[in-house]
Amino acid sequence: MEKRIQQLQEEALSALDQAADLKTLQDIRVSILGKKGALTDVMKGMRELSAEQRPRIGSLVNTLKDQFEQSFSQRQEELQQLAIAEKLASEKIDVTLPGRRQVAGSHHPITLVTREICDIFSRLGFSAEEGPEIEKDFFNFEALNIPKDHPARDMQDTFYIQDELVLRTHTSPVQVRTMLKQAPPIRIIAPGTVYRRDSDLTHSPMFHQVEGLLVDENVTFGDLKGVLIHFLNEYFGADLGVRFRPSFFPFTEPSAEVDIACVICGGKGCRVCGGTGWLEILGCGMVDPAVFDSVHYDAEKYSGFAFGMGLERIAMLKYGVNDLRLFFENDLRFLKQF
Ligand code: DAH
Repeated sequence: MEKRIQQLQEEALSALDQAADLKTLQDIRVSILGKKGALTDVMKGMRELSAEQRPRIGSLVNTLKDQFEQSFSQRQEELQQLAIAEKLASEKIDVTLPGRRQVAGSHHPITLVTREICDIFSRLGFSAEEGPEIEKDFFNFEALNIPKDHPARDMQDTFYIQDELVLRTHTSPVQVRTMLKQAPPIRIIAPGTVYRRDSDLTHSPMFHQVEGLLVDENVTFGDLKGVLIHFLNEYFGADLGVRFRPSFFPFTEPSAEVDIACVICGGKGCRVCGGTGWLEILGCGMVDPAVFDSVHYDAEKYSGFAFGMGLERIAMLKYGVNDLRLFFENDLRFLKQF
């Protein structure tokens, strides 16, 4: 029995030493001191010992028990410390590491140009208006003095949704909507998306325009020129060459197209301006009395001017972009440059 105790002592203590975690440690304790534990077994066997053997063995057992308990607590303490150290190490935060940056997007060049144009006109007292992209024939054509079968409808290849419903071909219908909503004086600018059945190197079936409208008493072509020249100088830079050429639009009379001196060659003539030194930039004119009639304005009392321009073109010239398609491809390498 003495031998058994000694063997148990060696086994138990070395097992404690080797226990790698608290769970194993507990298991060892149970295997020694539990109800069916090895030491418990030995103690049960003491009943069969003689009276003189019993005290010796009893004291051996007690020593082993004490030693075991002591080693157990010691190992337990060690393992607990180890567990805490491990936890601390795994939860360590290096506060000196640089933070993760939020990736910020940038505005699309068309958005930038729209905002800049709205800004310039808002300083002149114009407010921004919007209208629907799916538009009634009446607003897109009829009220703008473009009756059915009028040759002017050929100027704009239209996407029809139904007989009387189109994807708006220009932002001019916002003029009509605004005039039907409110009485003069009116000073609005209407940026937006427009659609035409047109797709090649320089045309996209969807593009953007800004429309402008001013209506009041005694508005003259001189006012129109003043406002547009001011705008073009603000947008492209001061002392820009600007010229007005007679033109035709159904909704204005007289009408003009406005050219600016080529921003690439400064007017000498290059590939971009086709050697002319001039770039066509917008259409404009005095509101045709027929348009005033369709919105029930008194054409004798009021006069006004309107203008419209394509934003892609204006953005291309401002940022030196040479391919229209870049605006619609959403290539981040392009968009990130703005
Ligand atoms: N709506 C015309 C177009 O899309 C542009 C335009 C020209 C608008 C002259 C106007 C204007 O208001 O007066 O081609």
